[in-house]
Amino acid sequence: MANEHLATVAVATMVIMCSVQSAQANLLKEKISHLQFYFHDRISGKNVTAVNVASAPTTNTSATSFGLVYVMDDPLTEGPEPTSKLVGKAQGLYASASQEKVHLLMAVTYVFQGGKFNGSTLAVVGNNAGFTEVREMAIVGGSGKFRLARGYVLGQTHSFDSKSGNGIVRYNVTVHHY
Ligand SMILES: *[C@@H]1O[C@H](CO)[C@@H](O)[C@H](O)[C@H]1NC(C)=O
Ligand SMILES: *[C@@H]1O[C@H](CO)[C@@H](O)[C@H](O)[C@H]1NC(C)=O
Ligand SMILES: *[C@@H]1O[C@H](CO)[C@@H](O)[C@H](O)[C@H]1NC(C)=O
Ligand SMILES: *[C@@H]1O[C@H](CO)[C@@H](O)[C@H](O)[C@H]1NC(C)=O
Repeated sequence: MANEHLATVAVATMVIMCSVQSAQANLLKEKISHLQFYFHDRISGKNVTAVNVASAPTTNTSATSFGLVYVMDDPLTEGPEPTSKLVGKAQGLYASASQEKVHLLMAVTYVFQGGKFNGSTLAVVGNNAGFTEVREMAIVGGSGKFRLARGYVLGQTHSFDSKSGNGIVRYNVTVHHY
């Protein structure tokens, strides 16, 4: 009898706890934000923003530079001009990760500066298929205003100089957050 009573109390407590949790979940309303900016990757010339940190002994003889690793601190700006207003930095690395195609593994944190997302970050991971018109990568999380973020980014080359290897990419970002 006492055991039955305890069990009833336990179940009732669990029901109350669950309803408190779902009430909290209801208070957190999911938002969708759309952002757009330009990513400037400069590997040579003045004001280099991405540096080669590693390669394999076979990287130079690979058609896809397989094994090449860069670390970037690339500016993100409102418009395509390098002098356009800075909205943040893309900090992280990219590595040539396919032996057949130019496929870069991107592992990047977008660190926003100024504006309503000042100090907030988005974590982006995925395959950047270099010669594809539009490259899609996943938003796997975030911080600050972007806590619990998920979504995707679409990258499209704005300009690329094959001589210097420097490029500008427009990113459209769709992010769900609270
Ligand atoms: C490099 O940075 C300096 C100082 O910010 C700037 O004046 C110059 O235009 C930049 N050069 C290039 C090629 O972006
Ligand atoms: C690959 O080529 C670059 C540039 O030509 C050179 O600096 C580097 O030493 C080479 N690396 C290897 C492992 O041969
Ligand atoms: C962004 O955040 C930094 C650090 O918290 C602060 O110093 C700066 O004033 C903020 N800038 C804007 C535009 O809010
Ligand atoms: C990015 O957004 C712009 C409009 O803001 C649109 O013209 C463009 O097609 C979009 N890019 C992609 C790859 O969806």
